[in-house]
Amino acid sequence: MTGSRLLGTGSALPANRVTNADLAARVETSDEWIIERTGIRQRYIAGEGETTSTLAIAAARAALEDAGVEASSIGLIVLATATPDNTFPATATKVQAALGCNGGVAFDVAAVCSGFLYALATADSLLRTGMARRALVIGAETFSRILDWEDRTTCVLFGDGAGAVVLEAPDTDAAGNPLAAGIISTRLHADGAHHDLLYVDGGPSSTQTTGHVRMKGREVFRHAVVNLSSVLEEVLEDANVSASQIDWVVPHQANARILDATAKKLGIAPDKVVVTVQDHANTSAASVPLALDTARRDGRIKAGDLVMLEAMGGGFTWGASLIRM
Ligand code: ACO
Repeated sequence: MTGSRLLGTGSALPANRVTNADLAARVETSDEWIIERTGIRQRYIAGEGETTSTLAIAAARAALEDAGVEASSIGLIVLATATPDNTFPATATKVQAALGCNGGVAFDVAAVCSGFLYALATADSLLRTGMARRALVIGAETFSRILDWEDRTTCVLFGDGAGAVVLEAPDTDAAGNPLAAGIISTRLHADGAHHDLLYVDGGPSSTQTTGHVRMKGREVFRHAVVNLSSVLEEVLEDANVSASQIDWVVPHQANARILDATAKKLGIAPDKVVVTVQDHANTSAASVPLALDTARRDGRIKAGDLVMLEAMGGGFTWGASLIRM
């Protein structure tokens, strides 16, 4: 039996668009360097009054509208973020209050760029147990607030945004047969040995500060291609599906070169890979649902398509999920 079904998607971006040229006026970098090494042309940066929760709420409302369901039917909110509004309570509870669906389950998960995959798997598992019938799964970040704007090796890579999906518990048709649409297979991994390659150098318990992103980009790149290829193969094998049967891959948008290298390794045609990194940069946990919503709204991803989501991030954490839309 397939897992929970995706009823709708939504996304939100801050108002302020920042180009590579804007950044070149701030740190020693260039439009050419950023495009050549990453594929990024612009990103959106949160301004005054915009926070992870305001972006998450906007994305959640768009997903509810797309799904055609009332906020009051949502019994579970799982929000992935590394940049919560506050250390506590969970940003998910702010979303719950704004939507007015109080009383159900609401919590955050922290798996950085893989956060949305972790949140999706968690929500799917809880829906299967009957904990709730409908869930909002959100990836939302204001990474700009933990960037060291003097460090050109990291500050040009990230952006802010949010993406959300409405998920419904697995069901059967009138004849009692399982519905074809839904999450088919998900695999998650973590390897804490690589902490020092990608981390934030602060936190409430260690420094009592928020800290800044630190990354050994070249090393992360190497691990990303290996780990993503391996988890994608794992999911394909579990689902008994070949790479050629996939209609769309929606990867975490960290670097166009990682997307190319991973697709090539698996034999997936480049025109089946949804690429939004040029417009959004790396929005961490928001990047997969933002890209998914973009490709649904522009008509690329349709009902019935076989879609693979995948991400790798700090921890290291990584994962992939195969979904029949
Ligand atoms: N502008 C101009 N020059 C720069 C910049 C910049 N913004 N940043 C670095 N450089 C210079 C470096 O100083 C270096 O100069 P040197 O050769 O004189 O020492 C040169 O460019 C090359 O630097 P590298 O770091 O080796 O460049 P690389 O080709 O590896 O690209 C990048 C760097 C884009 C960060 C790449 O390694 C990458 O994308 N890594 C993966 C990041 C990623 O996937 N993260 C995913 C998870 S993110 C998360 O979980 C939060």
